[in-house]
Amino acid sequence: MDPASSAAGATAPPGPRPSFQQMWKELLPLGRAGSGGYRRFAWTGPDQECRQWFRDQAVSRGLAYEVDGNGNQWAWSGDKNAADAVVTGSHLDSVPDGGAFDGPLGVLAAFAAYDELRSRGTAFTRPFAIVNFCDEEGARFGLACVGSRLMTGSLTAEGAHALRDAEGITLPRAMEAAGHDPAALGPDPERLARIGAFVELHIEQGRALAETDHPIAVASAIWPHGRWRFDFHGEANHAGTTRLEDRRDPMLTYANTVLAARKKARLAGALATFGKVAVEPNGVNAVPSLVRGWLDSRAPDEETLASVVAEIERAAGERGGRDGVDVRVTRESATPLVEFDHALRDRMAALLGETIPVLPTGAGHDAGILSASVPTAMLYVRNPTGVSHAPAESAEEDDCAAGVTALADVLEGLV
Ligand code: GLV
Ligand code: MN
Ligand code: MN
Repeated sequence: MDPASSAAGATAPPGPRPSFQQMWKELLPLGRAGSGGYRRFAWTGPDQECRQWFRDQAVSRGLAYEVDGNGNQWAWSGDKNAADAVVTGSHLDSVPDGGAFDGPLGVLAAFAAYDELRSRGTAFTRPFAIVNFCDEEGARFGLACVGSRLMTGSLTAEGAHALRDAEGITLPRAMEAAGHDPAALGPDPERLARIGAFVELHIEQGRALAETDHPIAVASAIWPHGRWRFDFHGEANHAGTTRLEDRRDPMLTYANTVLAARKKARLAGALATFGKVAVEPNGVNAVPSLVRGWLDSRAPDEETLASVVAEIERAAGERGGRDGVDVRVTRESATPLVEFDHALRDRMAALLGETIPVLPTGAGHDAGILSASVPTAMLYVRNPTGVSHAPAESAEEDDCAAGVTALADVLEGLV
C-alpha cells in the first residue's frame, strides 16, 4: 500500500476497513517530511499532532482517555482501575525519515479491531485499553522504548531526568514544553499490575512473509540488542598543512571501526550498524578533534552479542593505538533476549491457523519491554519489500485488513 494513496479507497468493503481507511487518511500527513518519510520525534510538534489524533480517536468512540505520568496515552473501555486488563496498541513516534507503518499500524489496527469487536457484538468481560507508548524509537533522546521502560521500571525516574536531546534539552523539559507535567515520571507498578495481557500488532520489518501466502505472522522472540556510543578523541589540525604521519585523526579510527564491526558481525551471524555520527569541529578543511559514532548491535543470543561488541571495542582500541586516538565506549542501552509468552503465542497460532508463521525478529518493541512483566504477544503484517525505518516501508491494504481481523480475533478470545 503506497502510504500516500492508500488512505482513500473508493468503495470500502464491510468490516473494519472504513474506519481504518479514515484513520489512515487523517494520520498520514502528520509529521511527513520532504523525503516522504516521517519525523515524529517525542514531544515535538508532529508528535503532539499524532497524540491529538489519538485523543480524538478515543473520545469519538466514547473511550475513557487518560495520559499516565510517563506520557503514555490510554483509551479505556471498562473500569481502568480494575485488574486483568487486555491491552493492545503500539507507538506513533518515528525514526528520522521513518516509514508510515512502524508503530502507527499497530495503533490504527487497535482502534479498528475495537470497532470490529463492537460490530460483532462482543461482550467485554475484562477491562480493555488501547495504548500509544511514547518515544518508542528513541530518535530524540537516544534511548528506545522510553514510555514502556519507565512504566515497567527498566528505566528509573533518575535515568529519565538525565536524558538529553542533541540541543541539550532534557526529557522532563521537553515534556513540560509540550504541556505534560513531568513530576510523575517513573515506574508505575500499579498500572503495570492491572495489565493481564498485551498484544501489539506491527508491520513486519523484514522479508520473511514476502514470498509466502501468509499476510500475518506471530512473533516468537526478539533478539537481544543495544546501543553503544564510541567517542574517538584525536587532535584538531589543518587539513592542508599537517603531514599524514603527524596526524591524530579520529575519523581514520572511526572508519576502521565501522569496517571491523561489519566483519565481526558477519562472522558471528549478528548485526552491527553505525547509523549516526557526529564530528567536531565538523569543518571540511580540518582534521577532526572528535568523532562520535553510535553502534547498534543485535544477535540471536546474548553471548554472541556480548562477544561481537567486545571484539568491535577491541578493534577500535587497537586501531586507536596506532592512530594516536583515544577511544572511549559507553553502553547507552541494552535489551535482553525476549521470548514471548508461550501460552499466548500458541493460543494465537491455534486460533489463526496452525500453519501461521511464528517468527523471531531483530527489531525492538514496547511488547518486548512489557514481556518481562506481562503475558505479551505480537502479530506481524507482511511487508512486501521488507524495508523499514525508511520511507519505502509498505504494506498491502488487504494485508492490513487481515491484520485487523486477526487482532480482533485474538482480542475477542481474551476480552
Ligand atoms: C526499533 O524499531 C528498533 O528496533 O530499534
Ligand atoms: Mn521502529
Ligand atoms: Mn515500531
